[in-house]
Amino acid sequence: PMLLTLVAVLSYLLGSVPFGVVITRAMGLGDLRQIGSGNIGATNVLRTGNKAAAAATLILDAAKGGVAVLLARALLGEDAAQMAALTSFLGHLYPVWLRFRGGKGVATFFGTLLALAWPVGLAACATWLVVAALLRISSVAGLAAAGSSTGWMLLFGRSEMFFLGVVLTALIYWKHRENMVRIKAGTEPRIGSKR
Ligand code: G3P
Repeated sequence: PMLLTLVAVLSYLLGSVPFGVVITRAMGLGDLRQIGSGNIGATNVLRTGNKAAAAATLILDAAKGGVAVLLARALLGEDAAQMAALTSFLGHLYPVWLRFRGGKGVATFFGTLLALAWPVGLAACATWLVVAALLRISSVAGLAAAGSSTGWMLLFGRSEMFFLGVVLTALIYWKHRENMVRIKAGTEPRIGSKR
């Protein structure tokens, strides 16, 4: 239990590293919280116009969730891996460094899913890509990927992940509530538009 607590705390701290904020600041691209949606994720980093910064944010925000899961699994096994998925994800959503005002979780969600069960992770990423290609709206793609993820878990015979999937999906929807208002109003910006 000591080690489990340590892994949970470490995963939270890893998840709470706001790579979007760090990268945009380091590259002199301005204050991400004053740009676009004000979110700290890759979609909003893209609104600075810098694709490399956005790609790096996407990869690192996903990687921190994946690394937390793989570390926990190596040290303590599969239950701990699920716990690390949850705590690293919570770190991204509610980082202590940003007074708990964190991101919306889509990239970190993908990283944890890929590490927990790569077919589920790939299917969720593919869902994002298909919806993004069709509609060109990142939030809609993220909501579709999250919403479909529990379905992918069942399809790939990973029902032990189902409860975790429901919790992560619910948190992603909660964090996208402003996006959902804009989606309904038809004012949600397309990917890459500077708004
Ligand atoms: O992953 C976040 C994305 O779904 C929405 O980001 O900046 O458009 O609110 P944003």
